[in-house]
Amino acid sequence: MKIQFRSLWMFGALAIALGVVVSVSQSAGQGTRGGGGSPVERGKYLVNITGCHDCHSPKKDAAGHIDETRILSGRPSTTTVPSTTPGEIHTALDLTAWTGPWGTTNASNLTPDTMTGLLARKYNEANFVAMFRTGKKPSGVGVLPPMPYEMYANMTDDDLKAIWAYLQTIKPIRNQVPANAPAPAPARGK
Ligand code: HEC
Repeated sequence: MKIQFRSLWMFGALAIALGVVVSVSQSAGQGTRGGGGSPVERGKYLVNITGCHDCHSPKKDAAGHIDETRILSGRPSTTTVPSTTPGEIHTALDLTAWTGPWGTTNASNLTPDTMTGLLARKYNEANFVAMFRTGKKPSGVGVLPPMPYEMYANMTDDDLKAIWAYLQTIKPIRNQVPANAPAPAPARGK
């Protein structure tokens, strides 16, 4: 009788221990792969934690809250260029346009709008991934600051493909981002 009671207790302890192991390994699994199962969910998760909205999404107020109705649509075509002071970097209140020693840059429209989005600039999954690896747009032109492509180059191919997949699912916004004005190349030689 005594032995039976003890083995019952041991069985209970074992079951609790197993339960703990299973739940710990489940949460560890979520921790190593955020965003859930599909590439689109993973891409959304990555875009939301890697700062893309900071520069690519217009804001709805002076506190810098993202305007959810036009996420990732880039520098609004209706806005003006930030001021310039030599030796300084200036940005618009919504962080979608910048001036610096490299000239003036406007954050691109990343939505799937066929006239003004990434598709209009001949992007596909392969050259989207390549842009993050090389800093070169499909047109061959180098991407200007402050787009931090060197940091994003540390993402895996699967992560960059997941971001591409997510960007194909967001609302297409027709917004022709103003053209960049790169600074004249600095004088070289004597
Ligand atoms: C610090 C600001 C900043 C952040 C953060 C940022 N970008 Fe950019 N990005 C820019 C600017 C500005 C440009 C335009 C540069 C140019 O046209 O040369 C740009 C250009 C791009 C381009 C090239 C588009 C084209 O038309 O060729 C892609 C793609 C892109 N960004 C995707 C992303 C993604 C995805 C994220 C988040 C993982 C991100 N960016 C985060 C500022 C930023």
